[in-house]
Amino acid sequence: MELGLKGKTAIVTGAGSQIGFGRAIVNNLAKEGCNIVACDIDLEGAKKTAAEAQAAGARAIALKNRHYQLSGSTGNGSSRY
Ligand SMILES: NC(=O)c1ccc[n+]([C@@H]2O[C@H](COP(=O)([O-])OP(=O)(O)OC[C@H]3O[C@@H](n4cnc5c(N)ncnc54)[C@H](O)[C@@H]3O)[C@@H](O)[C@H]2O)c1
Repeated sequence: MELGLKGKTAIVTGAGSQIGFGRAIVNNLAKEGCNIVACDIDLEGAKKTAAEAQAAGARAIALKNRHYQLSGSTGNGSSRY
């Protein structure tokens, strides 16, 4: 599917799981021609995902990160933090 994302850079969190959404999102965005930043608390997993994207022809790096849930949702789609 052509999403018009070629050349864009996608930062994908939770990309380290080899059975999860993050890896699948990375693979699909790589096919779209995106540059990939594969982020996860599990750096080794993120590296595997980034390597797979590279093998598919994408520019990809892995990054160790820890994301946090924001509190204070206003209930109208925005958040205070
Ligand atoms: N809305 C829905 O219908 C629905 C359905 C299924 C899953 N989910 C949610 O989607 C998310 C991803 O699901 P999945 O199946 O890919 O899970 P998964 O467990 O396969 O992968 C999650 C990845 O996130 C990483 N991770 C966990 N905490 C982290 C943190 N604080 N910082 C950085 N990385 C962290 C883990 O190391 C893992 O690689 C989960 O939060 C899950 O609850 C939502």
